[in-house]
Amino acid sequence: MRLDGKVAIVTGGGSGIGQVIAERLASDGASVVIDYVGSPDGAQATARSIEKQNGKGEIFEADVTRIEDIQKLVDAAWNRYGSADILVNNAGIEIRADFWDTTQDDFDKVMAVNLRGPFFLAQEFVRRLRAAGKPGRIINISSVHEDMAFPGFSTYCCSKGGMRMLMRDLAVELGPLGITCNNVAPGAIITPINESLLENKPKLNALLANIPLNRLGEPKDVASVVSFLASEEASYVNGSTFVVDGGLMCNYHEQ
Ligand code: BGC
Repeated sequence: MRLDGKVAIVTGGGSGIGQVIAERLASDGASVVIDYVGSPDGAQATARSIEKQNGKGEIFEADVTRIEDIQKLVDAAWNRYGSADILVNNAGIEIRADFWDTTQDDFDKVMAVNLRGPFFLAQEFVRRLRAAGKPGRIINISSVHEDMAFPGFSTYCCSKGGMRMLMRDLAVELGPLGITCNNVAPGAIITPINESLLENKPKLNALLANIPLNRLGEPKDVASVVSFLASEEASYVNGSTFVVDGGLMCNYHEQ
């Protein structure tokens, strides 16, 4: 299998896109450390589904906004499986607020989960790989909003725009160590993060009208690109964003 013998850490592996990425990497042969925060139910469901397909996966609670947790998460991979090869920075949140009403607390929360967490988790991962002289893969789940405006979500856009530059910087700085870094940028995918949109028919229809494929994406549409980026076939891919949005970002039409 494509990822036989590899070890992957997937943050936010208890729901949505992260859950399906963890399942996909395990079905490709990787051992997966399934990170979650709060209730373990979702992560346990991920682990059970991995077990059912005879894959290897273990859950581990770590809050990516806490440095101690980040260190423990990377330790968990090394203690359990001897090392890690692939880091998927997937955990993310969004808070809707008009720009003029956005609070410092909203800003800090979104940045802490979506940007500061991936930054320091990647740092811890790289320190371990560098000490061992091992190559690795960093795959960030960003968003079409790493590049595209999203009114009402300025904090989210700042965090994902930051993730775009983090990826580009790491591609250059870590390339000489044999560690690649790429982003996968999902558009509108059916997950808990956009539950309220899914329940709002007029908004949903307006969004669908902007998606050339005329459907929302599914987590597996994102997971298949992550699987490729984690594999040997992507060994020369470094410093790119892979948009998975049904054509949303390219679509412009006069009303
Ligand atoms: C956001 C969704 C949004 C989608 C397309 C995603 O990054 O999480 O809320 O619907 O982008 O705009």
